[in-house]
Amino acid sequence: MARLVFSYKGCSGFPKTGLWGLISSAPLKATRGGSALTYPTKNFISTQRIITSKVACRRSSLSLLSPAVRDKQAIRRLICSVATQPISTEAKMEAPKEIFLKDYKMPEYYFDKVDLNFSLGEEKTFVSSKIVVYPRIEGVSSPLVLDGHDLKLVTIKVNGEELKKEDYNLDSRHLTLSSPPSGTFTLEIVTEIYPQKNTSLEGLYKSSGNFCTQCEAEGFRKITFYQDRPDIMAKYSVRIEADKSLYPVLLSNGNLIEQGELEGGKHYVLWEDPFKKPCYLFALVAGQLESRDDKFVTRSGREVALRIWTPAQDLPKTVHAMYSLKAAMKWDEDVFGLEYDLDLFNIVAVPDFNMGAMENKSLNIFNSKLVLASPETASDADYAAILGVIGHEYFHNWTGNRVTCRDWFQLSLKEGLTVFRDQEFSSDMGSRPVKRIDDVSRLRNYQFPQDAGPMAHPVRPHSYIKMDNFYTVTVYEKGAEVVRMYKTLLGSQGFRKGMDLYFKRHDGQAVTCEEFFAAMRDANEANFHNFLLWYSQAGTPSVKVTSSFNAEAKTYSLKFSQEVPPTPGQQVKEPMFIPVAVGLLDSNGNDIPLTSLYHDGMLESISASGQPVHTVVLQVKKKEEEFVFSNISERPIPSILRGYSAPIRLESDLTDSDLLFLLAHDSDEFNRWEAGQVLARKIMLNLVADFQQSKPLILDAKFVDGIKSMLCDPSLDKEFIAKAITLPGAGEIMDMMEVADPDAVHAVRSFIRKHLASELKAEFLSTVESNRSTEPYVFNHNNMSRRALKNTALAYLASLDDPEITSLALHEYKSATNMTEQFAAMAAIAQNPGKARDDVLADFYSKWENDYLVVNKWFALQAFSDIPGNVENVKKLLNHPAFDMHNPNKVYSLIGGFCGSPVNFHAKDGSGYRFLGEIVVQLDKINPQVASRMVSAFSRWRRYDATRQAAAKEQLEMIMAANGLSENVFEIASKSLAA
Ligand code: TRP
Ligand code: ZN
Repeated sequence: MARLVFSYKGCSGFPKTGLWGLISSAPLKATRGGSALTYPTKNFISTQRIITSKVACRRSSLSLLSPAVRDKQAIRRLICSVATQPISTEAKMEAPKEIFLKDYKMPEYYFDKVDLNFSLGEEKTFVSSKIVVYPRIEGVSSPLVLDGHDLKLVTIKVNGEELKKEDYNLDSRHLTLSSPPSGTFTLEIVTEIYPQKNTSLEGLYKSSGNFCTQCEAEGFRKITFYQDRPDIMAKYSVRIEADKSLYPVLLSNGNLIEQGELEGGKHYVLWEDPFKKPCYLFALVAGQLESRDDKFVTRSGREVALRIWTPAQDLPKTVHAMYSLKAAMKWDEDVFGLEYDLDLFNIVAVPDFNMGAMENKSLNIFNSKLVLASPETASDADYAAILGVIGHEYFHNWTGNRVTCRDWFQLSLKEGLTVFRDQEFSSDMGSRPVKRIDDVSRLRNYQFPQDAGPMAHPVRPHSYIKMDNFYTVTVYEKGAEVVRMYKTLLGSQGFRKGMDLYFKRHDGQAVTCEEFFAAMRDANEANFHNFLLWYSQAGTPSVKVTSSFNAEAKTYSLKFSQEVPPTPGQQVKEPMFIPVAVGLLDSNGNDIPLTSLYHDGMLESISASGQPVHTVVLQVKKKEEEFVFSNISERPIPSILRGYSAPIRLESDLTDSDLLFLLAHDSDEFNRWEAGQVLARKIMLNLVADFQQSKPLILDAKFVDGIKSMLCDPSLDKEFIAKAITLPGAGEIMDMMEVADPDAVHAVRSFIRKHLASELKAEFLSTVESNRSTEPYVFNHNNMSRRALKNTALAYLASLDDPEITSLALHEYKSATNMTEQFAAMAAIAQNPGKARDDVLADFYSKWENDYLVVNKWFALQAFSDIPGNVENVKKLLNHPAFDMHNPNKVYSLIGGFCGSPVNFHAKDGSGYRFLGEIVVQLDKINPQVASRMVSAFSRWRRYDATRQAAAKEQLEMIMAANGLSENVFEIASKSLAA
């Protein structure tokens, strides 16, 4: 009898939802070679119970280990011992397995052509596949291992012959053909799946009555048995059959070849994608949808039909998405010479989606919050996010689809590069400095903490348990910074040459990060010593700079030293290759022309073309390194790391007055902003220390003056002002402390905000007055800048909790004609508990209760609140009729929002942690990917004081001991405890 291997996830103690619920309540049936093997329910349950209890006890014993023993290795050993220990002769526990980059092997078989046939039904869906398989090495016959998860096998045929049960082996994760024919053969498989019960939103599932798919990273295996890995690239045809009235629209990748009517009220379509693709780019959508249609003519004259699909009532809200798509298509032609390659491009908006959007070939699927927008319902930030993400998914057509990843460790090859491309696109469409400030803030607030915590991993991870957990700010945002460094080092033209060579060499291939590196290097004959370390070393490098001026020699020296902190599994680090863009300011605040540089015993001329150079990119490669500028006749103020030329923490010897000078004069706008932030961080850290020692808090008058002069400077961009007068986030400050103290940081941040508001009340009031507008909403930089500044000023004023200001904010709320201003006014009022707050929240809900995307903003605003004891309110909101744990956006708004409050999530009594702990266990049974994102809020628990540590650890241990934990949550929770 065939060995049946239960999956780790199979120990889920029979959740009420999901496929395991279905399997556990019915006989497990596997049809092999025509005869059905039926495992009685009773056996299944009893075996499963045994496994569950063994695993639970193993996992809790892990948490009892001393911290020294509880390192990553120990966890790994435990994982392995669970994995290899036979539990019963018939059933074996398959515990989470760690997968390593170093173990990559080429596939033994390739797939040439794949024909899929879907018969969509109300209870079950049949999926038939016909695959042309050929061996990598002609004549060598090895087993063919197919991935499959939560699938019911109906039939399997090789070269038209149904297989006998001894010809293959089926376990809960694989279908193995032990000795397939040598040479090319056809494989035909029929499976049965249950999309209606799929709450994981991975594979084929239903959202608001429509069918849709999400296959990246490893969801295709939940649709049919397949070699679910990106280096298997094949040409697909897809036939879909469904009830015509329930599912009038049937979409898949590529071109529509054929469609027609069938008996019984059904219809069918046939799609064919002429491009080879990995299965993670497969997509299918079926349902009641309508489209906004437009077209784009490529520069070589191809007319592309553009369609954005939504439920009929949402179509008016797709204008901005269509504008964004056309802008992205044009931009990729202009900047990279890249054209779209098919005659049709579809975007579908779905309300239930784990992530932002997915770049399936010619059929992008989007979370509806990243498609739907109207001035009344979407904020400026939403409009900007839509532009960026529509661009991002479109740009994947070349960076991701035409050239894809060899394996999932290479994810940043497509994601880092495509984030870089979408950042550049948004910059060109709006304001470059403001976009750069946003991106760097995001990196600092989210990626730096990850890089300094238990989940720290390189841009190209070395291992994973569940790939979904590695769609991270490190792979995406730090990965984009790595791509940006190539451009900084090579210049725009050199970078473009590298991109051209990359496509020339690798179009149609699945490649690695080295291949991208090599294209950049070879196209420019560049010497990129050690640059690859950016892909393999985790942790944010710390760079210290000290300066000295020699008046006699007219030289100015910058001495750099660098240190990469240890991260889990990487104790010792090599020095990195860090491009540092530097300019020098004279006493009038002008850039000093840079002529020559003394470095490594050589004098290098800087201006080769004779043109004055104001910024030079220093290549810092050693642990300690000095650069000396010559012909510098007065002591300059250095502007270091212009444009944030490398993802590092920089510490310099600039004084407060140097920083104020840079804030006033630097020609590099990013560094102007940065000077203010460095100053603010210093001030905040000092005040935090004062607060902890119960000293009175006093704000430096020069800082107030600095803010005032920016606020009143008509020459500055308004959005730049809004960013420059915004204090660094609480997370950023906590990140810089020995022991993070959320109460102190919150108190200090509130104190500074209030102090600035009362000192500059007149200026803030006139800022609000002079930035009103009665014109209709326009999405452009000028208008967004005006609203950003006005809203920032209003938020400062509202911190005063002054009745006069409350009525001003209420007036703004009532007179607002767009969501940006309406929401900002509500948020201003909601800063302070009381009747005004309650009333405005109630009014807003009654206005927008029928628009789920707006209701999510209402959830998020309340969840995020720093009003003490807010956990009770959030618990109540869990039972609000508009809340639903099955919808990721709602979870992100309410639960994710709550975790963003330093005061309430980190409440010292542990109430915030207990709340999240319970939710994670509940959520994990519905949607492991989303639960895993939520549990990450615990990951930095060791940064806090002993009381908080104990409370957070208790929750992590409780989660680890939960029955039937998903691999997703297991990985984050166990690594958080281990590090
Ligand atoms: N490739 C998608 C992107 O462009 C990411 C993505 C969408 C994803 N849905 C997912 C990743 C689900 C993992 C799981 O960024
Ligand atoms: Zn992407």
